[in-house]
Amino acid sequence: MAPVPQVIRASAEMTAWSRAARARGERIAFVPTMGALHAGHVALLAEGRRRGDRLALSIFVNPTQFGPNEDLARYPRDLPGDLAKAAGAGTDVAFVPEVADVYPAGFQTTIEVKELARGLDGPFRPGHFAGVATVVAKLFNIVQPDLAIFGEKDFQQLAIVRRLVTDLAMGIEIVGLATVREPDGLAMSSRNAYLSPAERARALSLSRALFAARDRAAAGERDAKTLVEGARGMLDVDRLDYLELVDAATLAPVARVEGPSALLVAAFIGRTRLIDNVRVGA
Ligand code: PAJ
Repeated sequence: MAPVPQVIRASAEMTAWSRAARARGERIAFVPTMGALHAGHVALLAEGRRRGDRLALSIFVNPTQFGPNEDLARYPRDLPGDLAKAAGAGTDVAFVPEVADVYPAGFQTTIEVKELARGLDGPFRPGHFAGVATVVAKLFNIVQPDLAIFGEKDFQQLAIVRRLVTDLAMGIEIVGLATVREPDGLAMSSRNAYLSPAERARALSLSRALFAARDRAAAGERDAKTLVEGARGMLDVDRLDYLELVDAATLAPVARVEGPSALLVAAFIGRTRLIDNVRVGA
């Protein structure tokens, strides 16, 4: 049995742990999460284990990135299960702060990565990416990692974090990892736990539609409209927020697949909002 990671609750203690590790010349890898860990999170931890001398995980369901009608109250929480999975992936420390530690009385600073947050999820989740950028910056300041690992599952979030780190010269290496999927193709997500068996079956239409478009592009189809319309016809969802083909770096919509692009989707299956994406044409 892998040893259980040390659990740190206080941010000052977390920073002291990091300072001590860095003073010993150790490289700290960091994986921020909201918990309810699945194989996608575990893949990020495994990559962190490979790249760092020390591996830190954070588990914090960040209230500021949830909208008023979103699932903050019912977001799945399972600390004992998370710690067992973290242990299996060789995690040294789990930082599990209280909301009042991350957002003490009087807190009033927000970081906005403007253009990258404008499209895709932006209009559907007002304030979401400001909440993400602010908490990620704060977690980076507390944990002081050398590198941090994020999933391409949250494609827009990853682009925003890269921009944030560059714009504010944070000096942290950002590593992006491919989406981990269930054997049938469904992208792993903590929110999959909300799906009934019938909804779970319909959720599969997201990855199927994306893969079909990717395969058509690989076979030579370059026209964005043709690819998007073909994928749209395969979706079995209750509400489609967006299905968009964008430039993989700028997230600007493209009319034709010329360079590295990505097809991103967000849709509701019942009450559950799912996102997924595939890289196209690179
Ligand atoms: P959370 O949704 O818990 O995701 C934590 C990290 O796991 C993110 O980098 C996300 O992209 C990655 N991840 C999720 N599902 C994945 C999958 N199927 N394959 C690979 N990686 C996957 O993203 C957040 O939390 C929060 O916004 C956070 C960055 C922690 C800020 O609060």
